Amino acid sequence: MQVLDLAGKYEKDTNRPIYKDKVIACIFFEPSTRTRLSFETAANRLGARVIGFSSLNATSISKGESLKDTIKMVSNYADMIVMRHPLDGAARYASEIAGCPIVNAGDGANQHPTQTLLDMYSIWKTQGTLENLSITMVGDLKYGRTVHSLLQAMSHFNPRFRFVSCDELAIPREYKNFLDSRGIPYSEHKLLEGQILNTDILYMTRIQQERFQDPMEFEKVRNLMSLDASMLTGARPNLRILHPLPRVNEIATDVDDRPEAYYFEQARNGVYTRMGIITYLMNQ
Ligand code: CP
Repeated sequence: MQVLDLAGKYEKDTNRPIYKDKVIACIFFEPSTRTRLSFETAANRLGARVIGFSSLNATSISKGESLKDTIKMVSNYADMIVMRHPLDGAARYASEIAGCPIVNAGDGANQHPTQTLLDMYSIWKTQGTLENLSITMVGDLKYGRTVHSLLQAMSHFNPRFRFVSCDELAIPREYKNFLDSRGIPYSEHKLLEGQILNTDILYMTRIQQERFQDPMEFEKVRNLMSLDASMLTGARPNLRILHPLPRVNEIATDVDDRPEAYYFEQARNGVYTRMGIITYLMNQ
């Protein structure tokens, strides 16, 4: 909640060069557009300098250096490391090695906590509250790390969840156990039709092609879930459609001009939220 408060302040006053003496490393071992560029924008608007790389091939890991040695080196250079990596748990591992804070910018199919903070800021802005909301999560709930982080964070605010996916991409058992242990209601569905009318937040996700071992398995599910404007008839006036992006074909472009579409504003909120995250960590 402190980060969300800071995000609100930075949205009103975006250029605050208070960390001119700080260096932030953005090290991305996996592709990214929004997370890397919004962290770099956030760092620049706070006056910090940014170092880093955007692919594994640009590092000495391609010559055989270990992740452990790489993290030790970068933490010698920077005051904070923002890290994306394809392996689940990589950021936690790095945090045990580094001498500076590590921010998890996405670790495999596991978690994407800074996306969750910007999602929560977007929910709070559009709904006026985080409490008692009906949240429908759609698409790749198995590999979609943004879903895993968001459902855990929103569990503090008495939500009701609907999960819409095919069997192959259903929400993993560990997350259902998590919700059960907290008494949070959820239901599972195979079709999006019929699930939109009583929803406050419709959280669409991309099928995570890069996590599939077998391309044929991806082909079977790639077109199963898609939202178009005709499906929004009768929706609640406060319904907002979120998507962590990138989008492929799961939201038709005829939705983009609808008042419920919020995904591009959501991405812009990433800058303010990440300014809040940087400030929060610099103050620890
Ligand atoms: N939402 C998100 O993580 O987008 P990128 O992969 O472009 O960073």
